[in-house]
Amino acid sequence: RRHILSLADFRPEEYNTILQTAASFSEVLSRRTKKVPTLQGQVVANLFFEPSTRTRNSFEIAAKRLSADTLNFAPGTSSLTKGETILDTAKTYLAMGTDMMVIRHREAGVPNAIAAEMERLGAKVGVLNAGDGQHEHPSQALLDLFTICSRLDASHPRIELLAGKKVAIVGDIIHSRVARSNIWSLLATGAQVHLAGPPTLLPKWFASFTQTADTPADYASRLFVHWDVVPALQEADFVMTLRLQKERMTQHLLPSLREYHQRFGITRDRLHLCQPDVQILHPGPVNRGVEISSDLMDDPKLSLIAQQVTSGVAVRMALLYLMGGGK
Ligand code: CP
Repeated sequence: RRHILSLADFRPEEYNTILQTAASFSEVLSRRTKKVPTLQGQVVANLFFEPSTRTRNSFEIAAKRLSADTLNFAPGTSSLTKGETILDTAKTYLAMGTDMMVIRHREAGVPNAIAAEMERLGAKVGVLNAGDGQHEHPSQALLDLFTICSRLDASHPRIELLAGKKVAIVGDIIHSRVARSNIWSLLATGAQVHLAGPPTLLPKWFASFTQTADTPADYASRLFVHWDVVPALQEADFVMTLRLQKERMTQHLLPSLREYHQRFGITRDRLHLCQPDVQILHPGPVNRGVEISSDLMDDPKLSLIAQQVTSGVAVRMALLYLMGGGK
């Protein structure tokens, strides 16, 4: 596919192609010479209209490891400040010879709008959604999937490894584009997905989420929602915690951060509910001591958080490579 905007319509074989390609690039990254000439001559532009540490930098290093040239856009020092529109900004990057645009924006749908404009112009540019509002963050969910599947079989990560496993997603689901993309990818694997959070942070969209015409019939039977963390954690194989996104909360936060930690925070005591070999993930950035206790976050036996960041480079290399015409 030319663009990666959402995981809603991803097919199982597409996930496995990305996982296997990322595994190959992980091997490349473990070598002394970490670079391949695959995208030589191509230009990858990182158009981040919203702050980022992990996503922006890992796309940049991924593009560089593939020998592409990279352009980084900083809204505060760009001609956006003079009133240039987002679409005109994208067209300016197109005119400079950009082959792939990686877009992050605080409004849902901006990457789709840019992709539509590129199609209208007949431009052969790939658009990758690096997080749009509360909609989706496909590359984060793909790196989460790669991290989990590699944990289960490092030499051959594949979605079938997750069939029947229980994954809990705990926290601020309503504001989380990461949760939305992860629900699509995890349901595609055959896993059971348990969402847990305070009612004020749980969305209403899951009622219709799994019931579009194209959604496989068994998705709804494997998606569960809890107002209590205990049933979500019981026998869980993987626990994904999510940041409380204070910047997206338009009303007073309910519950408070302290109450949230007491009721939903992932702590060593609560992990006893899970499978003995449970692993914890968090997309970052973390509010230390809120979503997860600080010592747990840094425990290499239980936390995959650093591994998620490392996986991000290989997975984003795979995405750029496949979008750039890699076979
Ligand atoms: N997980 C994530 O998107 O992190 P950044 O905001 O740092 O890119």
